[in-house]
Parts: sequence; structure tokens; C-alpha cells
Amino acid sequence: MQDMSGFPLEIAGDTPPMVSFKKVRKAYGSLVVLDDQDLGVAAGEMVSVIGPSGSGKTTVLRMLMTLEKINGGVIYVDGKPLTHME
Ligand SMILES: Nc1ncnc2c1ncn2[C@@H]1O[C@H](COP(=O)(O)OP(=O)(O)OP(=O)(O)O)[C@@H](O)[C@H]1O
Ligand SMILES: [Mg+2]
Repeated sequence: MQDMSGFPLEIAGDTPPMVSFKKVRKAYGSLVVLDDQDLGVAAGEMVSVIGPSGSGKTTVLRMLMTLEKINGGVIYVDGKPLTHME
């Protein structure tokens, strides 16, 4: 079960961010790809993800699609944590 301690169970408000990463951590073994990653995307906002090859761009998208489990932190979509990947 994902550890939600220290994180809100929901992001309150009428218009929560469409996507919100809070201190998200992702590692493949000893390779830490994302360490305490925060990210916010509002509804209607257009965001580009840029960076060198291997910096974790695809990993961010795969986590958002629940194709990868995260090792720490919480990803919220429309204010609710992505828990269905459990
Ligand atoms: N399933 C996996 N197992 C082990 N390491 C992985 C796995 N998937 C990705 N990695 C590693 O995680 C890091 C980030 O990879 P990712 O594919 O997210 O980078 P990227 O920014 O999308 O790169 P590119 O611009 O080449 O597409 C890389 O070091 C990659 O080798
Ligand atoms: Mg990629």
C-alpha cells in the first residue's frame, strides 16, 4: 500500500490542479531517476517536458499513466491520489 502519511488524502478546492506531483521519488534499483519531484499542471495549461536523454521525461509520463509504481511521494490527478495502480 502506498504510504500517504504526511500528505493530504485529497487536494481541496473547487479547481484543484489537473496534475500534482508531491515529493515524488522513482528509482530503478540504485538508479534514482526522480528525487522529491514536485510538479503542478492546471486544467488547460500546456506544459513541455524537456531535458537530456535519460533524465526521466518518459518515466514521468509512465508514472502518470500508472505504468510505473512510484517509490515515494504522491501523484494527484484532479485532486485525488492515483491509488488505482495498487
Ligand atoms: N524499466 C527500467 N529499468 C531500469 N532503468 C530504467 C527503466 N526505464 C528507464 N530507466 C532508466 O531511467 C532513466 C530515465 O529514463 P527515461 O526513459 O525516463 O529518460 P528520458 O528522459 O525519457 O530519455 P530519452 O530522451 O532518451 O527518451 C534512464 O537512466 C533509463 O536508463
Ligand atoms: Mg523518453
